[in-house]
Amino acid sequence: MSLSSFIQSMPKAELHLHLEGAVSAATFAELAALHSVPLPDGKPTSELYSYGNLLDFLKVYDLVCASIKTVDDFSRVTFEALERCAKAGARYVELFFSPHAHLAHGVAYSTMLEGILDGFRRAKERYGLVAKLIPAHAKPLGAEGGERFLDMVLAERPAEVIGIGFDYDERPNPPPMFAGIVERARAAGLNVTNHAGEDGPAEYVRDTIDILGLRRVDHGYHVVDDPALMERCREMGIVFTCCPSTTLTTTVWRDLAAPDHAIRRMMEAGLNVTIHTDDPPMFGTTLDREYALIAEHFNLSPAKLKQIALAGLSAAWLDDSVKQAWLADWSTEIDRLIETELPLPS
Ligand code: ADE
Ligand code: ZN
Repeated sequence: MSLSSFIQSMPKAELHLHLEGAVSAATFAELAALHSVPLPDGKPTSELYSYGNLLDFLKVYDLVCASIKTVDDFSRVTFEALERCAKAGARYVELFFSPHAHLAHGVAYSTMLEGILDGFRRAKERYGLVAKLIPAHAKPLGAEGGERFLDMVLAERPAEVIGIGFDYDERPNPPPMFAGIVERARAAGLNVTNHAGEDGPAEYVRDTIDILGLRRVDHGYHVVDDPALMERCREMGIVFTCCPSTTLTTTVWRDLAAPDHAIRRMMEAGLNVTIHTDDPPMFGTTLDREYALIAEHFNLSPAKLKQIALAGLSAAWLDDSVKQAWLADWSTEIDRLIETELPLPS
């Protein structure tokens, strides 16, 4: 078995995946045509999946959002996203989605939930994949928009909704803006995570931890600019859900082979880094490919890849009893793959 087949077979948790960023160019093309969503410059949709930075990317992401309208559309894109996860060896997925971007086009929150949960059911039936849902607040809609977002999430709350996230353009919208919403969400029993330090400063990672009180940070790369904060994050076991391919477009670290790439430095400093895909077709990747990229560029052993996969499961928002049972099973399964399927290093 090659290293890439080992990586594909290894059970993994996907904790940082956006539904709308997981729509293939082909499905986007079909849905945009079906719903007459105008595309810029008459470009073919496949050529739209290329961008120079985070803001460029988010413009295309919004077009994808505008193309998903009906219960069937939501079910389809959810099933297709989860099918790709299953084929990459994911056993558990926590899926972000962007309600505001559909509300803006007259789609009801209940329509989104109905379609997404139908997609979850089909993926469970077909692949045994367990998925949970994280509505994400778009930071540019501010604190007031965030309160309305949370009202909506709390008013219609199936068991699959396990938490909320904050995403989109982070720099003009620092974490403290959202302290009240985070407090209310946690009081209502929801988990919370925050995109920070992707193209925003280390201070936003610090404020996510110290002011919002969170223990999971999405991306977080700019933590490397503050050595004292890095050390504190290491001691606290702060989870960083990192996405290698995303960094090549939305951050200043555009070369995974570079010795100063943020994810490499975070791992070398002993931070709790987990590996995910963010927006896989939109960044031309899959979950197994992201593991293969870091294995190749950071020269990681199978044992280290196992540790990262289990760190992903440990960081999941699962009941502890389920998590402990899965950790034991995954560990045994991965050890068996390493012992029986991988050639011994010469
Ligand atoms: N939404 C989807 N992907 C994102 C990213 N990388 N950063 C911020 N918001 C996002
Ligand atoms: Zn993200």
